[in-house]
Amino acid sequence: MASESGKLWGGRFVGAVDPIMEKFNSSISYDRHLWNVDVQGSKAYSRGLEKAGLLTKAEMQKILQGLDKVADEWAQGTFKLHPNDEDIHTANERRLKELIGETAGKLHTGRSRNDQVVTDLRLWMRQTCSKLSALLWALIGSMVDRAEAERDVLFPGYTHLQRAQPIRWSHWILSHAVALTRDSERLLEVQKRVNVLPLGSGAIAGNPLGVDRELLRAELNFGAITLNSMDATSERDFVAEFLFWASLCMTHLSRMAEDLILYGTKEFNFVQLSDAYSTGSSLMPQKKNPDSLELIRSKAGRVFGRCAGLLMTLKGLPSTYNKDLQEDKEAVFEVSDTMTAVLQVATGVISTLQIHRENMTQALSPDMLATDLAYYLVRKGMPFRQAHEASGKAVFMAETKGVALNQLSLQELQTISPLFSGDVSHVWDYGHSVEQYSALGGTARSSVEWQIGQVRALLRAQQA
Ligand code: ARG
Repeated sequence: MASESGKLWGGRFVGAVDPIMEKFNSSISYDRHLWNVDVQGSKAYSRGLEKAGLLTKAEMQKILQGLDKVADEWAQGTFKLHPNDEDIHTANERRLKELIGETAGKLHTGRSRNDQVVTDLRLWMRQTCSKLSALLWALIGSMVDRAEAERDVLFPGYTHLQRAQPIRWSHWILSHAVALTRDSERLLEVQKRVNVLPLGSGAIAGNPLGVDRELLRAELNFGAITLNSMDATSERDFVAEFLFWASLCMTHLSRMAEDLILYGTKEFNFVQLSDAYSTGSSLMPQKKNPDSLELIRSKAGRVFGRCAGLLMTLKGLPSTYNKDLQEDKEAVFEVSDTMTAVLQVATGVISTLQIHRENMTQALSPDMLATDLAYYLVRKGMPFRQAHEASGKAVFMAETKGVALNQLSLQELQTISPLFSGDVSHVWDYGHSVEQYSALGGTARSSVEWQIGQVRALLRAQQA
């Protein structure tokens, strides 16, 4: 410790710090989450110092044991914070000195909190990415299981929130699951760029004391080492990427939540949320509200805000470390907590949801087969533009007569085109309709089964 003030940087300071400033500057209230990775980083660094001849073996052992003790206290909940503990790095080193004496002062040789903090954050985020990947895989897995079990259920597909074409319910589930596979793939990519070691970069210029960064990399099991000490201590691309990953994943989850909220209304009545993920109204006894889905939808806003906030913090910063960068951690911690909760709740919602098959089937209406009616004529040799017009005329005729599209007689249809014949009755079968869409990616049973296989294969590859 450098001075009587008990601060790491106290040597050149004579005046006291305004207590309001002290609080303003302090990050211990949240960066204490880094206690474990901070100890991990320091242990690796003391090994690096020993290898470089800056610590004797005995000194290194003393530091390692002291650091284990510090970690123990955190784990047991007995670590006592000191009013002067500005951040987790200061706190751990202060405690180490209390435990092992002056040798503790050698640990920070050639190191700066600038390379220390970013190493800690990368270690912490590496673990978090693994946890979030597992949660995301569990969610996608439950969606695929559901899609497989309910692949014979048909319901209306919507564009512009208007009835469009009959589809399989599984096709809808998979549309969201497939979006999430891109998120799980993206998270693995982010994790790769998180997994790079900055330690040994010092404050800005690097390490002048011969510390072997390859040894540090191996000790901490990083995939690579950073290339430039100025960049390493100040870039937070990996944080921005993580926050963007979360933003896009939340966009997908929020859209899925919105669909399910609509499908759960009495007006649609396709699905019913389990009690475990709904709440009642304090005033209206009949109400069952989809709070879980509404909160998923709303958390998206909070996550986007963190992403935009960090980018604003980074933009226009002068070269290398500036205290502005301390703001990165609250964003990461909050977004990690949010994503952890959201992914688990989404998995719970999806795996316990009830579907009302009859309502889904009853919501299908013959007008949704107008496109198929055009394809019928295409199969009889009519150019699509003409067929589209002919089918449109049939829709108009039915509307004018006040009957459903499938109630038009063959004679009536033949006034529109002589190509209509008795087999047009097949068009009015919803099961027959969806089966036509058998090109890969479509809503036919074979294609939905193919999608299930593809998503499962993707998950296996990502988990390998
Ligand atoms: N608590 C600081 C942070 O989170 C640690 C780095 C401090 N470095 C400095 N030069 N003041 O960024």
